Amino acid sequence: MNDPQFWWYVSRASAIIAWTLLTATALWGVLLSTRVLRTADNPAWLKDLHRYLSGTAIAMTLVHVGSLLLDPYLRDQAGFGVAATLVPFASEFKPVPVALGIVALYLMVGVALSALAARWLPHRVWKGVHYLSYAVVALITFHAALAGTDPGTSWYTVLSTALIVVTALAVVVRLLVGTVAAQRRRSARSPRVARGNERLRMVVARRVPLADGVLGLRLVPEGGGTLPVWTPGSHVVLHVPGGLERHYSLCGDPADRWGFDIAVRLAEQSRGGSRFIHEHLRVGDPLEVTTPRNRFGLEPANDYLFIAGGIGITPLISMITSLPASRHWSLVYIGRTRRSMPFADELITRYPGRVTVHASDEQRGRYPAAAAASASSAEVYCCGPAALMDELAAVVPAGRLHLERFVAADRTAGVVARPIEVDMPGIGSLRVPADRSILDVLEDAGAPVTGSCRSGVCGTCELRVTGGTPLHLDSVADDAEKDAAGVMYPCVSRALSPQLSLDL
Ligand code: FES
Repeated sequence: MNDPQFWWYVSRASAIIAWTLLTATALWGVLLSTRVLRTADNPAWLKDLHRYLSGTAIAMTLVHVGSLLLDPYLRDQAGFGVAATLVPFASEFKPVPVALGIVALYLMVGVALSALAARWLPHRVWKGVHYLSYAVVALITFHAALAGTDPGTSWYTVLSTALIVVTALAVVVRLLVGTVAAQRRRSARSPRVARGNERLRMVVARRVPLADGVLGLRLVPEGGGTLPVWTPGSHVVLHVPGGLERHYSLCGDPADRWGFDIAVRLAEQSRGGSRFIHEHLRVGDPLEVTTPRNRFGLEPANDYLFIAGGIGITPLISMITSLPASRHWSLVYIGRTRRSMPFADELITRYPGRVTVHASDEQRGRYPAAAAASASSAEVYCCGPAALMDELAAVVPAGRLHLERFVAADRTAGVVARPIEVDMPGIGSLRVPADRSILDVLEDAGAPVTGSCRSGVCGTCELRVTGGTPLHLDSVADDAEKDAAGVMYPCVSRALSPQLSLDL
């Protein structure tokens, strides 16, 4: 402290440490948001380290600013006082580089405050403010490279070159991976793109028991190669012998382009689908599989509450895997017995503190899922038994509730089926009697439409509405979403208007 240059040394050292920590923060931020190392990383650890690095970088920046203010030489001899330190362009010494540092300081504080308040801010606002961290890194880089007295020395040149290269690499990774993610999100939002009617020839590459009555399968393309891009929440349709079609959610990592992972529970009343898979399907067997469809897409949000009932965990696994580690989420996983709940132990280990497993053979009473969902402000994503989803639908506003149904909800109460006139290019005008579905009548007339579940749950029969007003009776998606996309599902839905114009 007696050394007259003490504060000058402190300001230089803290500046260099702050710049290094800021670069590491940016790098960790990219790892958090892109999860490019997702096979090896641990989200909780990544997130903690990102927070620690950013907090320390801010602390070091404040030490840098404080030591500049405390330096007697700068204050008394060089005229570098409070204004020059805190007001952009007030400094006579290197005004532009100094101003860049001051602006970066204020932006850094803004980003830090928005991160602390992320839970309460709309996701878009938080994200927009957080993008300013790239500007902070850029401004600090220019400030560090141009201000001060160290630039020009060989050790500083080596250090600054290394930090700039790391920053540039982080930005390139963010841009490349961000573009892929944005494409996936666009695909997921478009019901037309989500149809996935193309069939792939695949073979069983792995077959492992995941839990009591649950088999894990990995399917890879016959002859190798990569698979189409898919989004979290997607499912595929397996065509099993006997003309049966079975829908299974993809439960792997959406970034994995080399295989589809599914989990198949043996249904008690199986007519051949899951029973055939459990009892006859072996490694190396061929199978036809449709390209992935998504009607349970993950929308951007700050906070998610995932609720899974039994095998309903499968679509939620891909959502959780794909989320940036910085995102708030929690999972409630409900099942009859712990031994019948695939992935339960793995999830608890991988995401400590975020996963609640409620197995009826271990805990008494029912888990109060509806109460938890209504008390939360998070976006609720649920897949499980119809009773669980109906319970949630009764208490959670439709705007923040997202359901994936295996069985269609009965929406016919109070609906009186009436005959409808339907027309379609190349088919002409058809009369649909009250006791037949639009899909049946179109198929009989030779229209190139296909159905799968025929109960309004799978989304296969989707058609575009070009005229008239549909009466949605399906459970594929929210009615407002279908109206916005201009689509309907003719296996169960009808019309409010006497006439409907439909197209593929
Ligand atoms: S065939 Fe499944 S929704 Fe129409």
